[in-house]
Amino acid sequence: MRKILVTGGAGFIGSHVVRHFVKKYPHYEIVNLDLLTYAGSLTNLIDIENAPNYRFVKMDIRVFEEISNLIIKHQITDIIHLAAESHVDRSITDPNAFVSTNVLGTCNLLIAARNFWKDNYNDHLFYHVSTDEVYGSLQETGFFTESTSYDPRSPYSASKAASDHLVRAFNHTYGLRTVISNCSNNYGPYQFPEKLIPLIINNILSQRSLPVYGQGQNVRDWLWVGDHVMAIDLIFHKAISGETYNVGGNNEMKNIDLVRSLCNILDRKLGNKEGTSEKLITFVKDRPGHDLRYAIDSSKLQAEMNWSPSKMIMEGLELTVDWYLNNKAWLQSITSGEYLNYYKKHYSN
Ligand code: NAD
Ligand code: DAU
Repeated sequence: MRKILVTGGAGFIGSHVVRHFVKKYPHYEIVNLDLLTYAGSLTNLIDIENAPNYRFVKMDIRVFEEISNLIIKHQITDIIHLAAESHVDRSITDPNAFVSTNVLGTCNLLIAARNFWKDNYNDHLFYHVSTDEVYGSLQETGFFTESTSYDPRSPYSASKAASDHLVRAFNHTYGLRTVISNCSNNYGPYQFPEKLIPLIINNILSQRSLPVYGQGQNVRDWLWVGDHVMAIDLIFHKAISGETYNVGGNNEMKNIDLVRSLCNILDRKLGNKEGTSEKLITFVKDRPGHDLRYAIDSSKLQAEMNWSPSKMIMEGLELTVDWYLNNKAWLQSITSGEYLNYYKKHYSN
């Protein structure tokens, strides 16, 4: 019997992970721990909230005592750690929030897991979900591999890099069984509209300008969130302790091309004249320290676990747009209050 603590399970990727594990593994107990910050919402999990093998606990990973008691109370056997402050722009405005949740929060979880599992490390796994941004930024060519040196360049990526180092340190120093995956940009249903793809969809739907940083020449490697979840499932069950796996979509795109594709898809689906939404594109002040390009070499995961991304970007974008069109109530419910304040403050500069 596995009792898996998923942290950040009410967020974008975490909610997909929770749903997948609850449905696919009815014999596992899934405990979803989430603080429900602006980025987390239980509406992401309504379809499984009453599943017998699922429970939700509202908790802050920065509070060691509570985390520690929870792990003991639920006799947690494994942890899949996704809780984090995850938006680069917010990290530029408020780096401390990222250090406290991403670094101290991760360290709290590691200490609590070590304390509880120390008599029998072999039966337990601490799986840390991380980002390709720890590797820094690429020019036009090349890929990040698992042996690329860390070179984080934003407060967000620096905090994630620090958390990766802590996970490896706990593996090396104490023998805690750990695994890390570093993934490229995810997209799909339930993504909070501060991130590029849902932000552009939301702004087209509400006829707001479409902010493209700089000249839109930055490149990201886009991965369908469901493919990330499949990778997490495989890595969780098959990985060797201490290993790292890169996860990427083989779907590199310049931001401006991505935004134009979303405009075309939405114009078609909304019955607009071709070119209508592109008129909303506005080039705005660049993100400070904006990484030019991320590109992931995920051949290790493909070779060892036979994983590969199932969706190319255009198919995934169609599905994503359909989801947001069919879930306008969800979008409305999370774009009030805090979101409006953030949006006004961030995009008025
Ligand atoms: P998200 O911002 O959508 O969700 C983060 C979740 O963590 C939210 O539900 C939030 O409430 C929770 N949380 C934040 N602070 C907390 C705290 N102190 N205690 C408990 N819960 C807290 O993020 P996401 O995009 O789903 O990313 C999940 C993880 O995957 C993060 O660790 C991120 O670094 C990593 N990642 C994300 C991407 C991506 O493209 N989104 C890519 C690679 C890796
Ligand atoms: O690479 C993985 C990372 O991808 C994750 O670790 C992060 O949690 C996730 O937020 C994401 O980071 P990015 O900074 O790449 O994602 P974001 O959606 O914020 O931006 C994607 C690109 O679009 C980036 O080059 C900045 C640009 N952009 C973003 C926004 C929000 C714009 O041009 N305009 C915008 O309004």
